[in-house]
Amino acid sequence: MRFVCPSFSDIYAPNVEVKNFPDGDSYVRVPDAKEGAGKDVFLFTRLYPNQDASIFQTILALRAIKAAKPKSITLVVPYLPYSRQDKVFKDGEVKSAEILCEILAREGAGKLVTFDCHFLKKEGEFTYGGLKIKNISLNKKIIEKAREIAGGEIEIMSPDEGANYLVSDVGGTSMKKVRGDYVKGNEAYREIKEMKMSADVLGKSVLIIDDMISTGSTMLKAVENVKGGGAKKVICAAAHGFFLKDSLAKLNASGEVFVSDTIPSPVSAVSIKPVLDGLFK
Ligand code: R5P
Repeated sequence: MRFVCPSFSDIYAPNVEVKNFPDGDSYVRVPDAKEGAGKDVFLFTRLYPNQDASIFQTILALRAIKAAKPKSITLVVPYLPYSRQDKVFKDGEVKSAEILCEILAREGAGKLVTFDCHFLKKEGEFTYGGLKIKNISLNKKIIEKAREIAGGEIEIMSPDEGANYLVSDVGGTSMKKVRGDYVKGNEAYREIKEMKMSADVLGKSVLIIDDMISTGSTMLKAVENVKGGGAKKVICAAAHGFFLKDSLAKLNASGEVFVSDTIPSPVSAVSIKPVLDGLFK
């Protein structure tokens, strides 16, 4: 039995109602929840953008589904928010990623299916925060697409060592990125202090691949390095594209850029639908 939130309507027809009361509170209704009784149930939802509201709406949907006593509930969330906050760097911080997984497990998600989860760094089955997670990587599809765009061989690079796992199996190399401390003000953001590249890219077509493009600072700095090294063509790609601020315009101006549709965007060129269709026939 499939329950689909409106945030997933580009892939499957929604049958969960998600609205807002006039004051902004969330309203969620799963009209066919009872049909899930005794069955394996799948809840498809995106948790980005508006992640905090979307997480709460998902909790409400899980409660409605759970009340009908299904055999199991699998939650399908293409991009898992808070996945970059799985470590404590400073006293008084918390592991938001772990807390989110704990909440989802407690609310009845027997398993989470997601794509290129930042803290897992490889494909497979894991348990984190008490939640079973199936992590699927779009890396192969992204590299295939980049080869198609380049029309031949490409040099593959990641913009930092954290994303080395995306390139190590395909003979790629990683740049070294160092971030500074949090900037002053209300935004929890650490600027890039430096990024070094040692690979020879002179006259080559280069794919810079990361798990996500957020403000775009990482990719834009990496593009600067690669162009400075004399590359003839630069393609930027990631599984998840937030494209905050004016980063998409800047990246478009500096070369080719594409992402998957875990977060739909104007440059989503790799679809998760065939993967999901294959998993949930
Ligand atoms: C960091 O560890 C991630 O893999 C990405 O490199 C990072 O989140 C990209 O962020 P931004 O686009 O803001 O530089």
